[in-house]
Amino acid sequence: MKVRQLLQKPSRASLRDRALLLAHLLGTDHKELYFMEGLEVPPEVEERFFRELSRPEEGYPLQYILGEWDFYGMTFFVEEGVLIPRPETEILVEEVLKRLPEDKPLLGLELGVGTGCISVSLLYYRTNLRMLGSDISLRALRLTRKNALRHGVSDRLLLFAGDLFTPLKPYPFDLLVSNPPYIPEAHWEKLPKSIRIEGYSSLIGGVRGWEFYERLAAGVADYLKPGGLIALEIGHDQGEVVRRLFEEKGFKVETIRDYSGQERVVLGWRY
Ligand SMILES: C[S@@+](CC[C@H](N)C(=O)[O-])C[C@H]1O[C@@H](n2cnc3c(N)ncnc32)[C@H](O)[C@@H]1O
Repeated sequence: MKVRQLLQKPSRASLRDRALLLAHLLGTDHKELYFMEGLEVPPEVEERFFRELSRPEEGYPLQYILGEWDFYGMTFFVEEGVLIPRPETEILVEEVLKRLPEDKPLLGLELGVGTGCISVSLLYYRTNLRMLGSDISLRALRLTRKNALRHGVSDRLLLFAGDLFTPLKPYPFDLLVSNPPYIPEAHWEKLPKSIRIEGYSSLIGGVRGWEFYERLAAGVADYLKPGGLIALEIGHDQGEVVRRLFEEKGFKVETIRDYSGQERVVLGWRY
């Protein structure tokens, strides 16, 4: 069968997912498929295409089948149980990059690195930056290490395992960044299987959902220098709560909206 015919076969998976999967199996970029429409697909690739396609059709994330996903113009290894990088998080990276000085050495801390997409892209675009990154999941830390090596920034990223600030002694970082789990516990059962597969501790932030922000606000004075920046991704309805948490700590707070107009990033400057 030719590329065009394969892509036209009826399927519950979107055309984009089908193209990404086929391109992956042919070892090419999906944008190139357009030029390859008349190409005859080898039978073993065709057989694998239909076998693999049944998984996204059943709701399994295509990203985990591909084993990698794009984030902020870079490609990251992804793995079941670790959060798949989201476009909303690119806003966080973008806003931090806009505000990071480029003329002096900086030390940042990320709590909950996941795939490492935030720290690795910040390090990639700011060579004056070094980061410490932590996660409670060893699988996430291994993945972050792989992604840091892939993008040539592993010599500026020190990783450690543990629960938020617990393993760290107080230190005045220039930047503290986190996209913590922020979904309320009661929503877990209602989440689609395709999302739950990313892991409970990647997603669930406690009974109210914003418990991690409370813990970050409680600890931040010991881990951010005066003039330092905290940058957090938040749930769409958490802007007010998180803003108040940091204003009460004397931070000057700014919120940034995502593409759908929802508050998605909180930035706070420590006086
Ligand atoms: C929403 S994911 C974000 C991952 C990644 N930073 C991103 O933006 O794609 C939250 C991450 O926090 C980690 N995490 C959950 N509880 C934690 C804790 N108590 N201490 C440190 N990390 C934690 C999870 O394992 C997960 O990797």
